[in-house]
Amino acid sequence: DKAGHKHFMAKEIAEQPHVIAEAIRHYLPVEEDTVRLPGEVDFSQVERLTMVACGTAYYACVTAKYWFEQIARLPVEVDIASEFRYREPPIPAKTLALFVSQSGETADTLAALRFCQEKADTILSVVNVPESSIARESDLALPIFAGPEIGVASTKAFTCQLTVLLALALKAACDRGHLSAEEMAEYATAIRGLPNVLSSALEQNEAIRQAAQKVSEARDVLFLGRGLMFPLALEGALKLKEISYIHAEAYASGELKHGPIALIDKNMPVVVLTPKDALFDKSVSNMQEVLARKGKVLMISDQDGINEAGDDVWCAIRMPRVKEALTPILYAIPAQLLAYHTAVAKGTDVDQPRNLAKSVTVE
Ligand code: F6R
Repeated sequence: DKAGHKHFMAKEIAEQPHVIAEAIRHYLPVEEDTVRLPGEVDFSQVERLTMVACGTAYYACVTAKYWFEQIARLPVEVDIASEFRYREPPIPAKTLALFVSQSGETADTLAALRFCQEKADTILSVVNVPESSIARESDLALPIFAGPEIGVASTKAFTCQLTVLLALALKAACDRGHLSAEEMAEYATAIRGLPNVLSSALEQNEAIRQAAQKVSEARDVLFLGRGLMFPLALEGALKLKEISYIHAEAYASGELKHGPIALIDKNMPVVVLTPKDALFDKSVSNMQEVLARKGKVLMISDQDGINEAGDDVWCAIRMPRVKEALTPILYAIPAQLLAYHTAVAKGTDVDQPRNLAKSVTVE
């Protein structure tokens, strides 16, 4: 049942305020300003976190690396499941291994988990299907409460994964003595505000649909982001290529000069994900480099960012302002809507893109 939407993907994008609220209710119950997990995990003795996943779930892990390192001061390694195991990486003592999977059945992720059994101290998973193989074979499974995801392109599972991973990073920060009760309460308040913030992001649907009409004519699209927006740029490019079949690539903005700038011309849309955060000025100078070569900049930022730098851009999409750590969850919405409307404009099969399966159970 598409609940009045044209596609499951549209329905699942629209559901995000609601499903995220459900995840928040479980991990940050209102009466407490601490993170509640469905079982015991103590990060105080953990020396290293290894995160492994595929596709969109992998990009959720790359995002979480920033959180675990910055907020919890925990060294993190992130890897693609199909590479991890064959490299035969050493797993030092006091390693916590974390596997992220919507389906909980992805063959490579499950094989990577089995590789870590007997080696890592603790095996955690972040899953959408609590009775899945990955959930069953881990010491503790953290459900994301996204509900069934039908569209092949992952949307609500991604933002719910991020929400749970952020809660886990906050728990790690508290266990390791890097977060005061006051700071934790501030995060909790900001996270509880997310459902409303996501709803206002969804109000930009029409503006994004119009931008997508133009993007649908492109052969290639570049996505740029710095800091927490870099993994989101990767996710935005993946979403676009999966369902619209437009070639899209993502780079950390600072890498622009090291190669991809050679591609920029008047036919190249460049999506710049840049809330007005500590790295904003650097992103703007990268944006100027694109504009100077007649690249078409699609800027996704907040009102302050657009006021400051949005004059010469091709189009600007306005997001609400949130605490910096929360920006990947918010900016996922325009990235998903852009891919969705571009695919609709091209007339592709949004929910069942060619060559893709919802659950990849072969290696
Ligand atoms: C992208 C997408 C895939 C999955 C990947 C992992 O939209 O859906 O990249 O994220 O196949 O799947 P799970 O999370 O089920 O392990």
